[in-house]
Amino acid sequence: MKRIVILACTDRPESNTLRFSKYLKPHYEKLGVQASVVSLQDYPLEQVVGGKYGEKIPSVTSFNNTILEADGLVFVIPEYNGSFPGIFKMFIDYLPFPASFLGKPISFVGVANGAFGGLRAVEQAQQVVGYRNAYVFPERVFLARFSKNFSDENGLTEEMQQKLLRSQMRNFVTYINQTLPPVDLETP
Ligand SMILES: Cc1cc2nc3c(=O)[nH]c(=O)nc-3n(C[C@H](O)[C@H](O)[C@H](O)COP(=O)(O)O)c2cc1C
Repeated sequence: MKRIVILACTDRPESNTLRFSKYLKPHYEKLGVQASVVSLQDYPLEQVVGGKYGEKIPSVTSFNNTILEADGLVFVIPEYNGSFPGIFKMFIDYLPFPASFLGKPISFVGVANGAFGGLRAVEQAQQVVGYRNAYVFPERVFLARFSKNFSDENGLTEEMQQKLLRSQMRNFVTYINQTLPPVDLETP
């Protein structure tokens, strides 16, 4: 069975992004994959403050491995100031180089209370992970007006958002089931 990690791409306490990431998990499991949720709230940020690029930091390696060992990634990304959160870029900048996201299928969900549902955050993130050689899954979901359109009891209440999400999940699982494992590049 393929394994996916759903990454909540913010460190904001009680974020809607983490709420939604947790909501996704059983829905992915119903589609026949093993799913786990990881939050950037648990990223060992204090270990990299001051610029520790190129250093081997066990807590960072361990965090990264949890994510990079998955067969596919679902990035749930909130929009902060027209972009993704800073912690998300910090996480990427401390991934192993040059392997990083090489050959890793990644799917995107944008979360925002604004009208565009995290469109800018997701598109900018797609550009970055594409540069790092991910297999960028093209079907995106943008959850606009999130607080109005989501509840923990009923999930997404907007029919169009439900439909797009169902389609994305189903097709992403098909995609990762058909994707060859990434080439194992040696890191320097
Ligand atoms: C620092 C910060 C910046 C934000 N900037 C935007 C923004 O540019 N556009 C937007 O629609 N919402 C913005 N929001 C509101 C988020 O859409 C809202 O908090 C939503 O719940 C997703 O973020 P969360 O996962 O942190 O809850 C911002 C929130 C924070 C904390």
